[in-house]
Amino acid sequence: MSSIKPIIELKKAQQGQYAIGQFNISTDEQLKAIVEACNELKSPLIIGTSESERKFIGVNQVVALVDSWIKDTGLPIILNADHCKTFESIKEVVDAGYSAVHIDGSKLDFKENIELTKKVVDYAKSVNPDILVEGELGYLRGGSDIHKENIEIKEEDLTNVDQAKEFVEKTGIDSLAVVIGNMHGIQSSMKNPPLFLNRLQEIQKAMPGVFLVLHGGSGTPVDDIKKAIKLGVNKININTELRMAYTDALEKEIKDNPDEIKPYNVLAPSIDQTKKVVKEKIKLFGSENRIL
Ligand code: G3H
Ligand code: ZN
Repeated sequence: MSSIKPIIELKKAQQGQYAIGQFNISTDEQLKAIVEACNELKSPLIIGTSESERKFIGVNQVVALVDSWIKDTGLPIILNADHCKTFESIKEVVDAGYSAVHIDGSKLDFKENIELTKKVVDYAKSVNPDILVEGELGYLRGGSDIHKENIEIKEEDLTNVDQAKEFVEKTGIDSLAVVIGNMHGIQSSMKNPPLFLNRLQEIQKAMPGVFLVLHGGSGTPVDDIKKAIKLGVNKININTELRMAYTDALEKEIKDNPDEIKPYNVLAPSIDQTKKVVKEKIKLFGSENRIL
């Protein structure tokens, strides 16, 4: 069990008006690239794995890898189980030693979402009082992919302010994933729609102590990201842009050097390109030089 305290790290972000990036991974090279980028820029970080991503890399394996990077770098690396849909999925990662969990009951009806999220908070905190629990409310569209068809975000998809307040009070979550015009993935034009910043402001005013999370950070207009951080977003999730950087570099390397068979050479450009994306995000989120 790691001694990482995610709530303290997010409190620092809240006070310093910056956001911590959650970077999703499914391979060891991605983890290496992200940790190296954050170490070079002295930035806090969150490593995220969805249910499919951790099925690939392995739950116990990713916990051990992150622990070894914490030991080597001294960075407070938070490991978050992203978009868990069931209590069983949460139990597995809490028991394995993840330091943060995201219970995504947003597709359930409001009452069921409250019940499931509260059950998760009670269990997770009984095993590890320092664990951070994130809940979700609203209809977040898309997956972490490039979308051929444009995704239309409707006003009724957005997180409802009154419901959000009740949700936080009844569940005891530490952070809330909000839907404010954000979506997972990137539209093929490489530009995603703007955020509904007014809604974000209303949510923040209604629950000033709660950490606010922006999912679907890839492709979001840069100015909107900056404004969202000023309006209280403390954590931003990035996946699609990392997947693109890794895969594009790998494809190019194989095409350019068809005779190369050493994995550490074939994968080197994927690591470099992933680092480049992570460094850009750190600068955009204002989390550079936050580790003393
Ligand atoms: O939970 C993961 C994120 O919300 C990733 O979103 O793929 O649009 O960057 P993204
Ligand atoms: Zn997400």
